[in-house]
Amino acid sequence: MSTTTKNTIERLTAVRGLENVIAGDTRISTVDGVAGRLIYSGYEIRELAAHASFAEAVYLLWNGELPTQAQLETFRTRLVSEMRLPSQVIEMIKLAPPSAHPMDLLRTAVSALAMYDPEAEDRSPESCKRKSIRLLAQTITIVADMHRVRHNLPVLSADLGMSFGANFLYMLRGRVPDEQERSAFELLLMLHLEHGFNASTFATRVTASTLSNMHAALTSGLGTLKGKLHGGANERAIDIFDRIDDIDAIEEYIDGMLNAGKRIMGFGHRVYKVEDPRARLLRSHAQALCHRADMADLEAIATRIEQVVLEKKGIFPNVDFYSGIVQHALDIPKAYFTAIFACARTAGWLAHILEQYADNRLIRPTSNYVGPTDRVAAPIAERG
Ligand code: COA
Repeated sequence: MSTTTKNTIERLTAVRGLENVIAGDTRISTVDGVAGRLIYSGYEIRELAAHASFAEAVYLLWNGELPTQAQLETFRTRLVSEMRLPSQVIEMIKLAPPSAHPMDLLRTAVSALAMYDPEAEDRSPESCKRKSIRLLAQTITIVADMHRVRHNLPVLSADLGMSFGANFLYMLRGRVPDEQERSAFELLLMLHLEHGFNASTFATRVTASTLSNMHAALTSGLGTLKGKLHGGANERAIDIFDRIDDIDAIEEYIDGMLNAGKRIMGFGHRVYKVEDPRARLLRSHAQALCHRADMADLEAIATRIEQVVLEKKGIFPNVDFYSGIVQHALDIPKAYFTAIFACARTAGWLAHILEQYADNRLIRPTSNYVGPTDRVAAPIAERG
């Protein structure tokens, strides 16, 4: 009897990196890299930056509409009241090696939260809304508590009278931020909230599409964002300021980097072909904070770096350049920059999980098999 099987495996062409592949429909956000526009649920980011807070932008992404004053007050109160962790998760943070990267600890702690959330497996829309609020609040609390634990400082409770971003700064640094600090930090959070179908958002949606729980989907997003080709770049963007302290030496330094084929961190973008609108919005906050923090030199150096890189390469700073400066001026240690980006993006990932659950189809692409199909397996004694 013949055992020959007809080969029906088709050879196709794979799209490397899935570049320009349309992987789904979304109403959450879009990026127009040619015009330099970032749009959240129909609103341009500069509109939201001028007229809405971080909590309002989150409400918009989760509900499709900006909140009324009463809706915002209820939302903000619920968000801030959830800024606390189960004691077991705080113990876990204490047990982690002090050398652990904040993103590794954040990812592990968010994953662990599933085990202490009685609603973890409930995918009803009401439960998902409650968990979204809880998870956004808990994620940023992990970062604040991690810092306090690592410095042998008491973990602080959120203050119901303050905003989400102000509470984070208070819980991290132990002092209530003033209005300028609060508004700069909340703008930074708003600008990192959402950015289309990027790698971590896609990873989050793939996990959600298996109907795994929200904690698991966020854990996928966190693992993906950590990479240095994605969120991990932002910690390196301010390294340049450790290397240059003389404004007259900038041109030579940049020339040296470019001639050696090195990239200037915090510059250029895969999607934006013009100035990143997020960098433009953060620049004035960075400048104002530098002035009052007696860091005017840093501001002058930043401006000169920007001029020189534009002259030499025709490229603009991206959001990481100015978010690094803003966080540095706010006394936030560099080690937390990617984790803070992740906390803001958690709100975007949650919007995508809600959208995926609401109209789900398992995301299951296929590959182009390029190996042989007709090998014969020899018994183990005959191999070698
Ligand atoms: N420093 C120096 N040159 C840069 C550069 C940078 N940061 N970013 C891009 N360029 C150069 C490229 O080398 C290329 O030069 P060439 O035409 O002489 O070869 C030109 O600008 C166009 O670059 P392009 O290939 O379109 O950029 P990309 O899509 O490959 O890169 C990034 C996008 C984000 C990976 C890249 O800009 C980068 O590495 N930036 C630094 C890291 C960073 O800040 N990441 C955070 C992004 S939010």
